[in-house]
Amino acid sequence: MKLLIDSANISKIEEYLEYLPIEGVTTNPSILKKEGNIDFFDHMKNIRKLIGTNRSLHIQVISDSYNGILEDAFNILEKVDEKAFIKIPVSRNGLMAIKKLKEEQIKITATAVYSSIQGILASEWNVDFIAPYINRMQNLGTNPFEVVSQINGNIINSSSSSKILGASYKNIYQVLESVNSGSEYVTLGTEVLDKLVADVNIVQAVKDFSNDWYAIHNRNSIL
Ligand code: G3P
Repeated sequence: MKLLIDSANISKIEEYLEYLPIEGVTTNPSILKKEGNIDFFDHMKNIRKLIGTNRSLHIQVISDSYNGILEDAFNILEKVDEKAFIKIPVSRNGLMAIKKLKEEQIKITATAVYSSIQGILASEWNVDFIAPYINRMQNLGTNPFEVVSQINGNIINSSSSSKILGASYKNIYQVLESVNSGSEYVTLGTEVLDKLVADVNIVQAVKDFSNDWYAIHNRNSIL
C-alpha cells in the first residue's frame, strides 16, 4: 500500500510527514474550501515545498468544459510546477481532455470515479492514476471493492500503465478492503489518517509496558 494525504492543511501535512510513509498529497476544490480564502497557487506551491519533489502532488481542475479543463491544467503546470498530476473528473468532457493531455505526456489522475466503466475507460487512455470514490460508492449501494477489482482486472488484461489510487475513505476497513481488491495507492483524509495508530488498545499496551518497566527500575527509559 502506498499512502497519500487527501488534505491541503499545511500543519497536518507537516505532522504526517514526521511519522507516516507519505508518497504524496491530493486535493480538490472541496478540500481547499476547508482552508478558507487562500491564494490557490501560493498554497499549492507551499505544499510542494513541504513535500519536496520526490512525492507526488495531485491538483484538480475547476472548469468542466473541455477548453476550460485544458486551460486549468496548463495554468497548474505553469504556476505550480510541471511535475503536478492534473486531477480530472471522468465525465464526457473530462475524458476528452484526458485523451488530449495524455497525448502531450501530461500526468493525469482520473477522479470522481463512481463506477467500473469510468475507471476502465480512463485506464484505456493510460492515465497515471484512477481514483475510485470508495465511501461515496458505498453510500449509493455500490460495492466499491468489486469496482476496484474490475478496474484492476482491466488494467491487467489490457496492459494499461494506470494505477489505482483509492479515495473517499471513512474508515480503515474500507482502506484494507480496497488494497486487497487491487488499489495499490490510497489517499486518506485527516479523519482516517488520525485513526491509523490511535487505537485505544495500542495506547493502553504502551502504557502497560511503561508501567511494568517503571515498577521494577523506577525510571522511564532503558538507561
Ligand atoms: O479524493 C476524493 C475525496 O476527497 C472525496 O472524499 O470524503 O468527499 O467523499 P469525500
